[in-house]
Amino acid sequence: MTEPGVPAEAERVEPGRAEPESRGVSRRGLLGLLGAGAAGAAAGFAGGAATAGVALTAGAHGGGAAGASVFPFYGAHQAGITTPAQDRLHFAVFDPDPGLDREGLIGLLSDWTAAAARLSQGLEVAEGGAVGGSDYAPPADTGEALGLPASGLTITFGFGPEVFETADGGDPFGLAARRPPELVALPRFQGDALEPARTGGALCIQACADDPQVAVHAIRNLSRIAFGRATLRWSQLGFGRTSSTSTAQATPRNLFGFKDGTANIKAEEPGVADEHVWVQPGDEPAWLAGGSYLVARRIRMVIENWDRVQLGEQEQLVGRSKGEGAPLSGGTEFTEPDFEAAGPTGAPLIDPASHVRLAHPSVNGGARLLRRGYNFVDGNDALGRLDAGLFFLSFQRSPEQFVRVQTSLAADGLNEYLKHVGSAIFAVPGGVAVGEFVGQRLFD
Ligand code: HEM
Repeated sequence: MTEPGVPAEAERVEPGRAEPESRGVSRRGLLGLLGAGAAGAAAGFAGGAATAGVALTAGAHGGGAAGASVFPFYGAHQAGITTPAQDRLHFAVFDPDPGLDREGLIGLLSDWTAAAARLSQGLEVAEGGAVGGSDYAPPADTGEALGLPASGLTITFGFGPEVFETADGGDPFGLAARRPPELVALPRFQGDALEPARTGGALCIQACADDPQVAVHAIRNLSRIAFGRATLRWSQLGFGRTSSTSTAQATPRNLFGFKDGTANIKAEEPGVADEHVWVQPGDEPAWLAGGSYLVARRIRMVIENWDRVQLGEQEQLVGRSKGEGAPLSGGTEFTEPDFEAAGPTGAPLIDPASHVRLAHPSVNGGARLLRRGYNFVDGNDALGRLDAGLFFLSFQRSPEQFVRVQTSLAADGLNEYLKHVGSAIFAVPGGVAVGEFVGQRLFD
C-alpha cells in the first residue's frame, strides 16, 4: 500500500511545482462523487504552487470545489508555507511534559508525522478511524471530520527555542549543540504588550484548511496523540486568510478592510523564496536546510477606534487605497509604490510614516517576508470591544528579516490602532522524505 501523502513514483513532482494530478483520497471518495470535471479543477490546484485552477478562484473563500484540493505531505519543504494560503487556521503551541526525553520526543514526532501524512490526504488519523474499531475501545479518530474532504489541509511543524534549552537552562533532549544560533526569543519591540499565556513555546503545529472543522480536527487529534508527552500551551483559530501566497489567488482583506498580501512573496517566484524564505544548504545549521523560521504575532486591532477614522486618513496610514489597494502614488493594485512621487503641495503622495513605506524592502535593507496570517475574532472584552485582530504569521530565511521590518514599523502610524499581545518564534525544519519523521535531521 502506498504511504499516505506519498506520490506514486511515476507522478512524483518536484516540490514547488504543480502536480500532474490530485490524488485526493477523501473521507468518502470525494473525487469519485464530484466527477471528472471537478476532479480536473482540483488537479490544477494541488501542487505546492498552484497553476491557477478553478478550485482556487471559485473556492478561494472556502466551500465549493476548494474542499477537493489535496496537498502532498512529503517533499523538499514542508507544506503550508508556499502552499496557496487556505482560508482557515488552527495554530497550536505545545510544551513537552516533564520527563519527556530524547527518545520520547522522537516518538512523538514520529507519531505526529504518521498522523499528519494521513490527515492531509483526507484520511482519518489512524486505521480503524472513528467507527471501524472495537466497540470496547475509544475510537482511533475523534470523528468530527467524517465525510469531509481533505479541504486543502496542510500541517506544518516547528521547534521553538525551548526544545534546545528549557527556561531553567536544561537540555532534556541533548540538542543544545544543535541549536540554530538565530533561534532566540525575539527582542522586545516598542509597544509590545505581550501576554505570557500567548507567548513562546517549544513545539508548534500550524494546521491550515479551507474548512475550519478539518483544521480543528487535525489539531485535536494531534493533541490527543501527544497526551502524556506534550501539553497544549496556547492556540489560535483564524478565519479569512490575510495574505495571498500565489499569483492565482485574489488578494483578501484584513479587519481594517484593506487588501493584504499584495506585495507578498508568491510561490510562483521560486528564486525569491530561495533568497528570502528557505534556509539554504550553506546556512547554519545544516540540519535546517530547506526549512524556514516562523514568526507568530497575535496583533489585537482596536477596530472600534479605527472605524471612526476618516477614509482618507485610513488610506494615508496604510499608503494604499482602500478599494483597489493601489499605492497612493498611483496605478493599480500591483503597481510598485513610488515613494518619491509628490502631490501639488510638494508633499510625498505616500506618507513616509505609512505602513507600506516602512515595511517596504527599500527601507529595510532588501528584507522581505512571506506573510501567511489570518484574521481572528475571539469574543469581546469587558468593555464591549471585539477581541479582534490579525494573527500575523511570517516565514523567513532568517529571523533578522522580521526583526528588521518590525523595528522599522516602530514609527508606523497604524500602531495607534494595534497592540501586539502574543509572540513566538520557531525553526521550521525542511520537508519530510518518505520513511522519515519531521525534523529527523536534527537528531542525526
Ligand atoms: C495588524 C497589523 C497589520 C496590518 C493591518 C497590516 C496591513 C498591511 C497592508 C494593508 C499592507 C499592504 C498590502 C500588501 O502589500 O500586503 C501591508 C503590507 C506589508 N506588511 Fe503589513 N500589516 C500589519 C502588520 C505587519 C507586520 C507585523 C509586519 C512585519 C513585521 C508587516 C509587514 C508587511 C510587509 C513586509 C508588507 C509589504 C510591503 C511592500 O513590500 O510593499 N505587516 N500590511
